[in-house]
Amino acid sequence: MAQTDTPNHAPMRLALGMMSGTSLDGVDCALLRSDGEARLMRLAHRTYPYKAALRRRLRACLDAAQAWNADGAEPPVLAELDKEVTEAHAHAARDFLRGQSERPTLIGMHGQTVLHRPQRGMTRQLGDGAGLARALGIAVVWRFRDADMAAGGEGAPLAPLYHRALQQAHKDAPPLCVLNLGGVANLTFLGADGAVRAFDVGPGNGLLDDWMARQCGEMQDTDGALAAQGQVDEGLLAAWLEHAWFARPPPKSLDRLEFAPQGLERLAAADGAATLTAFTAAAVARAREHLPRADGPLRWIVCGGGRHNPSLMQALRTRLTGSVQRAEEAGWPGDEMEAQAFAYLAIRAARGLPLSLPETTGAAEPTCGGLLSAP
Ligand SMILES: Nc1ncnc2c1ncn2[C@@H]1O[C@H](COP(=O)(O)OP(=O)(O)O)[C@@H](O)[C@H]1O
Ligand SMILES: [Mg+2]
Repeated sequence: MAQTDTPNHAPMRLALGMMSGTSLDGVDCALLRSDGEARLMRLAHRTYPYKAALRRRLRACLDAAQAWNADGAEPPVLAELDKEVTEAHAHAARDFLRGQSERPTLIGMHGQTVLHRPQRGMTRQLGDGAGLARALGIAVVWRFRDADMAAGGEGAPLAPLYHRALQQAHKDAPPLCVLNLGGVANLTFLGADGAVRAFDVGPGNGLLDDWMARQCGEMQDTDGALAAQGQVDEGLLAAWLEHAWFARPPPKSLDRLEFAPQGLERLAAADGAATLTAFTAAAVARAREHLPRADGPLRWIVCGGGRHNPSLMQALRTRLTGSVQRAEEAGWPGDEMEAQAFAYLAIRAARGLPLSLPETTGAAEPTCGGLLSAP
């Protein structure tokens, strides 16, 4: 728990952040008390996994959304799943809040992304914030990405301002990089001069999760066990790194299904897992070419589910210079980071403070956002 004082500070507010990432693993809940600026009190958190049947339908919905590609009328399956995702959030929030001594006055709900096309000003998250507000009797901030995209931004990533607040609260010396390994991977660079830069770096766990589902009928390569038995196919890896994405300067944000690595299917299960794990790490290494030149090696703080994968952490340590720490080793939040970020952003949205900067999303100017739905 970290707290700093600012003079003339605004009142602290208790908010519940709810995040459902592109891994389709479930809904993360986290309570945060904050003024939306420098003062942070990190409180309870918990993940509510999606039921297997909903997860399967969401996976199929992702494919339907991809095929639709925002051309013409939206496939009806999206509206059907809107309801189910809202219900999953309401169920998670009810259960989570039952165990808490104090009720939040605000919820920040990110929603479940099924299509993200920033070039076309289009992003679609499942989950109805207005419905959630009615179900719980608590105001909900949602549609976090819309205003940023209307201002010419990528609409993502949105956690960087929370990363900066954490760095300041912890008095961690810059420069440092916060690396989030979710379904896709994104980083926030925090420079010595207060600079923030953020962008999606490439695949996170998504390709590996999909490979495990196809090859072994499993949700993930638990503890990196399969990758540890395989050999990296360096030729394929080099070819995948030719993807135009990696050379493209930021700001940039990814759709989960952007990468479809050619040649993967001819690999044995373990070699495929090893090569995909190396691909995620190599993409992070390549992202360094888009960072301001740092003097000396960078410090990396790794959050998101991928940090639980020792093969992936080892691949990062091999490919990055400087220290590579799991978030908790640095005293930072790990699995709950993103949910806390959306609690923080909800408090900022309610105060009319910007959620994104030109350096984090490419928006023309610091941009406020979020839609506030009263209960
Ligand atoms: N013990 C583990 N071993 C390997 N991978 C793991 C482990 N725990 C979590 N993961 C990976 O983390 C992913 C979930 O990460 P998360 O940060 O929740 O992503 P998202 O934000 O996209 O939902 C899982 O899909 C899985 O790939
Ligand atoms: Mg998740």
